[in-house]
Amino acid sequence: MAPDPVNIFEYEEIAKKQLNKGDYDFIAGAATDEITLRRTREVLDSIIMKPRMMVDISQRDLGTTVLGEKISFPVMLDPAGNHGAAHIEAELASARAAGAAGTVMILSSHSAKTLEDVAEAATGPIWFQQYFFKDREMTLGMAARAEEAGYSALCLTLDAKIKPKRERNIRNDYVGPVSPNYAEYEGLDLGTHAWQFAADAPAGPMDIRDPASTWDDLAWLAGETKLPIVVKGIMTGEDGRHAAESGAKGIIVSNHGTRYLDTTFTTIEVLPEVVEQVAGKAEIYMDGGIRRGSDVFKALALGAKSVLIGRPLFWGLAVGGEEGLTSVLEMLRDELDATMGMCGRSTVDSIDLDTLGSISPLQQLFDRK
Ligand SMILES: Cc1cc2nc3c(=O)[nH]c(=O)nc-3n(C[C@H](O)[C@H](O)[C@H](O)COP(=O)(O)O)c2cc1C
Repeated sequence: MAPDPVNIFEYEEIAKKQLNKGDYDFIAGAATDEITLRRTREVLDSIIMKPRMMVDISQRDLGTTVLGEKISFPVMLDPAGNHGAAHIEAELASARAAGAAGTVMILSSHSAKTLEDVAEAATGPIWFQQYFFKDREMTLGMAARAEEAGYSALCLTLDAKIKPKRERNIRNDYVGPVSPNYAEYEGLDLGTHAWQFAADAPAGPMDIRDPASTWDDLAWLAGETKLPIVVKGIMTGEDGRHAAESGAKGIIVSNHGTRYLDTTFTTIEVLPEVVEQVAGKAEIYMDGGIRRGSDVFKALALGAKSVLIGRPLFWGLAVGGEEGLTSVLEMLRDELDATMGMCGRSTVDSIDLDTLGSISPLQQLFDRK
C-alpha cells in the first residue's frame, strides 16, 4: 500500500495517478503557456518568514469570521466546477468536509450536484457562486434559488466573461458534463461543456454570461438581492474600490487560478494594493496557489481575512472523498497553527508584516555599500 500523503503536493501526485489524464489536466491546467501558474508558487516561496521569540503562544486561536460567520480557521473552499471529476459523491462530499473542518464552502453554479441537494447535505455555512447572465431574470432567478435553499452569500465571478484558451483541454479533446443547475433554463444547448474548450464549440453556458456587465450591474444586483455579495476576480486596487463602492461586502483577490488569462501578476503581489484601496469598506480574501499553512500565514500578514483553495480540494476528493478533503483541510490547519506558533503569533488578527520579509539582509547590506 502506498504511504499516506504528508502534504498537499503528495496528494496531487497520488490524485494524478488515480484520475484519467483528461480530468487531471482539466483540474491542474491553466490558460495558454501556464506562466503565472508556475510563478505563483515561486512568488509565494520567495516570501521569507521571520520567526519571533519569547511570546506566549501556549494558546493559539485560528478562528475568525467571514461576513459575520464564524469559521474555525481562515481557509475556505473556492467555487470550482464539477467536483464529480474527482469523486462520485462530488460536492455532497465537499460540503460535508467543509462542515467537518468548520469552514465555508462556496458552491460553483457548475456543480455536478444541484445547489438544492448540496444545501441539504451541507453541515456548515455555504455560499453560492454564479455570473451575470445576459438574461437578468436568470441572474436574479439563480440568486433567488440559492437564497431559498439556504446559501448565506452570493459570490459573483467577474473574470470569466470570455472563453479561455486551455491548451491541455484542447489537446485532450476534453468534454465535461453540464451542471444540473442549468437544466431548468430553457433554450440553452447544454449537451456538454465542450463549449469551454473546443475551437468550434456549440453555444452553451459560456455564451449566456454577459460580457457587457459593468459596475452598475453589480450595484443593481446588490439592490435586488438580500444576500451579501462577494466578488471574485479582483486584481487591482482600483477595481477593489469600484467593487466596494458598488455594494460588494467581500472581495476575492483572484486570477482564477490562472485558468483564464496568463501572465498576470500573482495574487499575493496585488493583495496589498487591493487592501489599501478598499480601506476596510469590504472584507478581502485571496486565492491562488495556497498549498501550505505558511502560504495562508503570508496572505494574512499581507492583509487577507481568509484564503481559499481550489485545486487542492480536488486532490483530497480524488484520494479519499469526504475524508480525503477533510484531511487536506486539517493539514493546512496544522501547518498554519505551527507557523503561527513559531512566528510568535497566537491569533489570526495578530499576524502582521513584522513576521515577513522578501529581500535578503545580505542584499540590503550589499546595496548600502
Ligand atoms: C477544476 C476547477 C474548476 C473551477 N471552476 C470555477 C468556477 O466554476 N467558478 C469560479 O469562480 N472559479 C472556478 N475555479 C477557480 C477557483 O475558484 C480558484 O480561483 C482557483 O482554483 C484558485 O487557485 P488554486 O487552484 O491554485 O487554489 C475553478 C478552478 C478549478 C481548478
